[in-house]
Amino acid sequence: MILQVGPAGSPLGGELTPPGDKSISHRAVILASLAVGQSRIEGLLESEDVRTTASACRQLGMKIHADGEALLVDGIGAEGLCAPVGPLDMGNSGTAMRLLAGVLAAQPFSSELIGDRSLSARPMRRIVHPLCLMGARIQTADSGTPPLLITGNPHLKGINYASPVASAQVKSCVLLAGLYAQGETSVCEPRKSRDHTEKMLPCFGVPLVDGCAVSGGSRLTAAHIRIPGDISSAAFFMVAATALPDSSLTLNNVGLNDTRDGIIRVLQAMGADLRVSNRRIYGEEAVGDIRIRYNGQLKGIDIPQQWIPSLIDELPIIMVLAAVADGITRIRGAEELRVKESDRISVMARGLESLGVRLTQYRDGIDIEGSAIRGGNVDGAGDHRCAMSFCILGQLADSDLEVKGCGNIATSYPGFAHDLKTVGGRIT
Ligand code: S3P
Repeated sequence: MILQVGPAGSPLGGELTPPGDKSISHRAVILASLAVGQSRIEGLLESEDVRTTASACRQLGMKIHADGEALLVDGIGAEGLCAPVGPLDMGNSGTAMRLLAGVLAAQPFSSELIGDRSLSARPMRRIVHPLCLMGARIQTADSGTPPLLITGNPHLKGINYASPVASAQVKSCVLLAGLYAQGETSVCEPRKSRDHTEKMLPCFGVPLVDGCAVSGGSRLTAAHIRIPGDISSAAFFMVAATALPDSSLTLNNVGLNDTRDGIIRVLQAMGADLRVSNRRIYGEEAVGDIRIRYNGQLKGIDIPQQWIPSLIDELPIIMVLAAVADGITRIRGAEELRVKESDRISVMARGLESLGVRLTQYRDGIDIEGSAIRGGNVDGAGDHRCAMSFCILGQLADSDLEVKGCGNIATSYPGFAHDLKTVGGRIT
């Protein structure tokens, strides 16, 4: 899919409520499916990735249906899953595949997880290794990529796992398997990744031991979950309003979990006028409203490496911000970007460079020097976050921009083009 974008020509203004948080939505559907009783989920993200998780849960025997704006999940208990008929297709979603693999590793039946071209190239040894230490039997392709053939083992043993990567998908996968294992399962990681699983398990009646450990055999009970707006989706508009002269935009109901809010710290450190108000809590998750006003004072910074996990999905749009800020922005310690839905360092570098931005790529990051942006054409390479980042870049360019490879925007933000138009952006 190709989108024609910008230049916006006039300021962005008004208010927007970003769609439900993708990470929290996946977890809500999975945990509700494992719980006994009917759970009610409000504010769920309706996107292809979340539909993938819900459809896999249905194939495992769950009854999931809409009730007006809410989703009702009739969980059958962690032990009640049925063997799926045929492979479970995880589409483009790494979160769906890695989290569900943790559950499926512990079942008394076998299953196969497949994905689209992008997911089929993503590394799975990072979950296969700890799951095998617990006693699971899992086969991958020779390159350690999907498909995953999981021979379930209902007698997993708990482990204390020191993950070499700061990955919430790895951590959540191991904790979900740990719910079924004998004894306690704990995970520690080099830097703290997003903690939505740890925050949501207690809502389903499973206490966490010492912050990141679960006891095997814990029973989940149905819950009422309210999902905040996705800060990763809001980030595109935060950057657009920061960079487009005279913009003033309010983003309502944005998730502000402190393992996800690095984009706010970066914007403020670069000089943006961004204020958070009306802070509140949904379950265990922090939420607030964000007002951004253009002030023309953006400057490049060195992004502290310890911030990287809290803004990992925002790095493509941060690269756009860097391209229009004064001076150089340096990003390091972000080698994980190379194994996302695409190699996000290469895809963004190729697009930015072709529009006149000076940059240097590194194995684990990039230096970007702010400059004037030309129009032309770029390729989002089927990666939703790169495609949306280029659509925002187009608002800031001096002439029209054509963005190829936008089809997967629907995996996380189906209403993106509509919302961008609503606040004054140009996109067709
Ligand atoms: C996610 C974790 C992150 C993030 C992804 C969603 C999650 O991936 O990039 O978009 O929901 O757990 P990693 O766990 O690979 O860091």
